[in-house]
Amino acid sequence: MKKVLLIITGSIAASRCKEIITLLHNKEVKTCCILTKEAKKYVKIADINKLLKNRIFTDQDEKKNKMLHINLSRDNDMVVVCPATANSIAKFANGYGDNLASNTLLASNKKILFAPAMNSFMWQNKINQKNVRLLKDIGHEFIGPKVGNLKCGEFGLGRIDNSKKIVNRILSRLENINLLKNKKCLVTAGPTIEMIDPIRFISNQSSGKQGYEIASQLVLYGAKVTLISGPTNLDPPPNLKFIQIKSANEMYQKIRKISNIDIGIFTAAVSDFKNKNINKTKIKKNKKLNISLYKNIDILEKIGKSKTQRPKFLVGFAAETGSVNNAKKKLEDKKCDMIVYNKIYSKNKVFGSDYNQISIITKTQIKKFKKMTKVNCAKQIIKQIYNTI
Ligand SMILES: Cc1cc2nc3c(=O)[nH]c(=O)nc-3n(C[C@H](O)[C@H](O)[C@H](O)COP(=O)(O)O)c2cc1C
Repeated sequence: MKKVLLIITGSIAASRCKEIITLLHNKEVKTCCILTKEAKKYVKIADINKLLKNRIFTDQDEKKNKMLHINLSRDNDMVVVCPATANSIAKFANGYGDNLASNTLLASNKKILFAPAMNSFMWQNKINQKNVRLLKDIGHEFIGPKVGNLKCGEFGLGRIDNSKKIVNRILSRLENINLLKNKKCLVTAGPTIEMIDPIRFISNQSSGKQGYEIASQLVLYGAKVTLISGPTNLDPPPNLKFIQIKSANEMYQKIRKISNIDIGIFTAAVSDFKNKNINKTKIKKNKKLNISLYKNIDILEKIGKSKTQRPKFLVGFAAETGSVNNAKKKLEDKKCDMIVYNKIYSKNKVFGSDYNQISIITKTQIKKFKKMTKVNCAKQIIKQIYNTI
């Protein structure tokens, strides 16, 4: 049985939660809820307790159980903030944790859906819109609000969305959550570095952000993830196996040790060239330096063509200054199932940015996406993978 944590915040629309809980129960989704102090003004605990059988939590409960904000997120499959006030949206967007609801949201490792309800001027207020944009950009989802008569007597955009629509969205997201359950996934990310002497190296500008976002999203879809990363400035994402390497050869050796991979997503920018003989001592700067660079190991091609090592589904990345045709060729040459192509040009400065503009290429189609955050690119890539496998 799937489980949803409903966070009910202080909007008059909070009275709608009874209908939503009933609809979820009819679909065999077990619900528990957090009521903020303000929400208690609009929902009688006794009323929903008949439906929730003591699975109602308030700030008082956190005083008795210090880990409640962690447990509530871990024990449920999804978190739904419904109705979501401008206040709670603002708190979450800005990282505040001053009650059970905001602490649970901050500590959540689950998908979060917001169903906002408020006066239309509140909704359209620029600060509220900025907060909503921030949350969408880091991968959270919103349903509604819609245009209609508002409880305050005004008319406009701010009414909580239709209950059936909200429940259908929750059900469809719950289906997705287990889509990659226990799938063994390998993600490579970041640059590799190839030493010249004990101090210097050659490398590239990859920040690793796209790969780390993909790995984090795969975890949310229930996959068992290993992330092999070159040197980056990023913290390893939680709930996955993290392996750090430096050179392309080290990356290849680590990949070879992992067998029976269901999905391999190779985002790493493996250095195409390496210095054949690493100088044992620091090369003195008064000397003229001539470095002969040799072709490095092509990990994607080696794995793509391997009879024993190839993941069941293999995704390569092509950051190209050239056309999409180069990426299409890579799909065939390296025996991939999918290539994510990003054209590097002045309007798509991918390296280090939180944004990316990608095209997803499979044997049968090319899908072009608008510029979006790397989190949302990660979601699209994963969606295309499970639509194809
Ligand atoms: C009668 C009344 C109705 C309210 N309705 C809403 C609402 O629909 N949406 C909203 O964002 N805020 C609404 N507010 C303001 C919130 O209740 C207020 O910002 C509160 O601090 C929210 O707390 P919470 O986010 O912790 O639940 C309303 C306030 C009052 C007095």
